[in-house]
Amino acid sequence: MKSGTISFAEFMHYALYAPDTGYYTSTTPKIGARGDFITAPEVSPIFNQCVATQCQQVIQDVPDAVMVEIGAGLGTMAADMLQYLQRAGCLPKHYYILEISPWLRQQQKQKLQQQVPDLLPLVSWIDKPLSQPFNGVIVGNEIIDALPVHRFKIEEGKIRELGAACEQGQFIEKMLDQTNPKLIERVQQIQANIGALPDGYCSEVLLDIDLWLAQQTHSLQKGIVLLIDYGYAQKEYYAPYRNTGTLRCHYQHQAHDTPFIHVGEQDITAHVDFTALAETALNQGLMISGYTTQAMFLAACGFSEKAQDQAYAVRRLTHPTLMGELFKAIAFGKNYDQSLMGFQFHDMKQFL
Ligand SMILES: C[S@@+](CC[C@H](N)C(=O)[O-])C[C@H]1O[C@@H](n2cnc3c(N)ncnc32)[C@H](O)[C@@H]1O
Repeated sequence: MKSGTISFAEFMHYALYAPDTGYYTSTTPKIGARGDFITAPEVSPIFNQCVATQCQQVIQDVPDAVMVEIGAGLGTMAADMLQYLQRAGCLPKHYYILEISPWLRQQQKQKLQQQVPDLLPLVSWIDKPLSQPFNGVIVGNEIIDALPVHRFKIEEGKIRELGAACEQGQFIEKMLDQTNPKLIERVQQIQANIGALPDGYCSEVLLDIDLWLAQQTHSLQKGIVLLIDYGYAQKEYYAPYRNTGTLRCHYQHQAHDTPFIHVGEQDITAHVDFTALAETALNQGLMISGYTTQAMFLAACGFSEKAQDQAYAVRRLTHPTLMGELFKAIAFGKNYDQSLMGFQFHDMKQFL
């Protein structure tokens, strides 16, 4: 790691992705009871079946559809979706998993081997987005929140960048002498959209979302990108009362906002600014096919019919004060303009 003061994004990249010692590259359990956090695919297979139902619509509509899952965790969503799609007679031509963690790749292989061994030949792991043209679905649950963010603070009306330094073996927060010009531009744009942010206001920007999205969708010819994550539209994301940002760390099922402890042993995340994500998608020629809460997305994909005897899972995934409202689903179409079933109950595009 470089010495001196580095941007927070560089620190987050190091903490999460440094070879072998980063949170996502190490071999400690992350997801589930023995790990640090739990995700919707682990709460109930019905979540995964609902996502599969949305994918099924597109697989039926576009020729030779494949699926690409970004960041597949324990492989539970992949296994449940493939099982569901097989029963529906609607398997994709191939299922690619883009996964950064060698350890989680192993978990995913084991999970698929146990649950759907006959479908393993359909699955390949990839290190980077597909370079050959394809049709189908790119899907990711809780992946954008793991991408490194830049942090800023408003000081005497100026946009300053917060970074990290290592002093006496301990990481600390430190202001950078120079603020990244791209960060200044983006915070100015946010202020132009929603009004001036007050002095002392501190938050995050996912500066490289344009690069990331372009890489993921470059070879998609026809189909959708479906992303589910926690976050808000911009006005709510940068609301005056959210003046310390949305950075959250997860360590042994405790959430806190101190990224400089347990470095490499805890997850560091930031909520998603869905407006910025949608603007990026539009700039790249994608269309916004839908944006809604997790609860409404699941309902529209037949959650309650699928979940008749799973009252607890239904509540956890869809209750407004649990995961139902904070988590949102957003989909972008590329040469695909059909109405998506997941957004038929409550599409909130106009609030982005
Ligand atoms: C929060 S977990 C979510 C896992 C899974 N989607 C779920 O909901 O259970 C993030 C996943 O994305 C993977 N990941 C993180 N950053 C990544 C990146 N830049 N490219 C590909 N995978 C990444 C992690 O290894 C992990 O599998």
